[in-house]
Amino acid sequence: MHLKIAVLAGDGIGPEVTQEAVQILRAVAEMGGYDFQFQQLLLGGVAITAAGTPLPTATLDACLESDAALLGAVGDNKFNALPPDRRPEAGLLQIRQALGGYANLRPSIAYKPLTNNSPLRPEVTEGANILFVRELLGGLYFGEPRSWNKDTNLAINTMRYTRDEVARVARVAFELASKRKKKVTSVDKANVLEVSQLWRATVTEIAAQYPDVTLEHQLVDSMAMHLMNIPRNFDVVLTENLFGDILSDEAAVITGSLGMLPSATIGGAVNLYEPVHGSAPDIAGTGKANPLGAILTAAMVLRHSAGLEQDAQAVETAVNNVLEAGYRTADLARGNQPGQQIVTTREMGKLVHSALNEIIDRRQAMHAV
Ligand code: IPM
Ligand code: MG
Repeated sequence: MHLKIAVLAGDGIGPEVTQEAVQILRAVAEMGGYDFQFQQLLLGGVAITAAGTPLPTATLDACLESDAALLGAVGDNKFNALPPDRRPEAGLLQIRQALGGYANLRPSIAYKPLTNNSPLRPEVTEGANILFVRELLGGLYFGEPRSWNKDTNLAINTMRYTRDEVARVARVAFELASKRKKKVTSVDKANVLEVSQLWRATVTEIAAQYPDVTLEHQLVDSMAMHLMNIPRNFDVVLTENLFGDILSDEAAVITGSLGMLPSATIGGAVNLYEPVHGSAPDIAGTGKANPLGAILTAAMVLRHSAGLEQDAQAVETAVNNVLEAGYRTADLARGNQPGQQIVTTREMGKLVHSALNEIIDRRQAMHAV
C-alpha cells in the first residue's frame, strides 16, 4: 500500500494537531508495512505571510499529485480586515473547489466515555451516532453574484444549486445510509426558499432508487432543535453547504467538544481531510488543543483513501480506550470528574499512539495463532 499525503497544517492550532495525526499515520504505516509519504505544504495565513496568497500554486499542484490532502485549520485574526476573497479561509474554499470533493462527511458520535463531558444529559446523547453529509461546493459559499457595495451599502450573496449538484451529494448520503441504519434526514428551508424546494424534489427523486432507505425531510430551524432533543433519532443527515456548517458545529455538543469532530470530503479528484474545528488562535501553542479530531480525521484517511478499514477502526478504538482511561484535553474538562486527567496535545497524541500499538500487537498475535 503506497499513499502520498499532502499535509496542510495551516494556522493556529493546525500544526499542533496535524503533527499528532501524522504521527498516528506513521505508526499505522510502520506496523502494517505500508509506504505512506508526507509532504508539508503552505495554506491559509501562513501561506499569505510566506507567499502573499492563501493558496500558492505549488500547494495546489502538489495536492493534485497526491492521493489525499490532510488539513489542520486555517484562520488568523491578523487578516480580519482583508476582504473574504483574500483571507486565509479563501485558500480553504479554493482548495476545496480545486480538489473537487462535494460530499463532506462529518460524523458526530456520542463516545461512551465522554457521556459526562457533554452539557446534554447522558440519557439524551446515549447511542447517538450521526453522519452529516454536507454539500461542500455550492450554495451561498460559491454562488454568484456576490458583492458588498460600500457606496450603496448593499451586500449580496447568492444561494444557488443545480439539480445535478443536489443529486450527486444525495446519492452519497443514500449509499452511506444503506450501510448504516438506513435512514436519511434531508435538511432544507422549503417553506421559504426555491433552492430548498429544488433540493427537496431532487432528494425525493434519488430516494426512489434506494427503497430500503427511509427518507425524511426536516426544516433547518426545527432540525436545530431536534438535534439537541433527540440526537439518537438521526442516522445520515444530508444538508446544503451553510446549513451543514452550522448544524455540524451544533452536533459537536453531542460529543462534548468541537475538538472531537473529524471530516472527509469525497467525490473529487483528491479527497480532502480536515477536522471540523477552526484554528483557535487563542490557545495556539499552549498545549490545550485537542488532537483527537485530527487523529480521527487520520482514521478517515485510512478508511476512504487507503481502504484500510481495520486500521481505521484500530485508530478509533485507540481513541476510545484513551478516553475510557480518563484522559482529557482542556476542552473536555467539564466539571471535576473523578478519574479524569487533563493532558496536553502532545501527551494525548502519545497516549493514542501507545493504545494503538497495543491494539495492533494484539491483532497481530491473534493472526499468528
Ligand atoms: C468548516 C469551517 C469553514 C467553513 C471555514 C473555515 C471556511 O467553518 O469547515 O466548517 O465554513 O466551511
Ligand atoms: Mg464550520
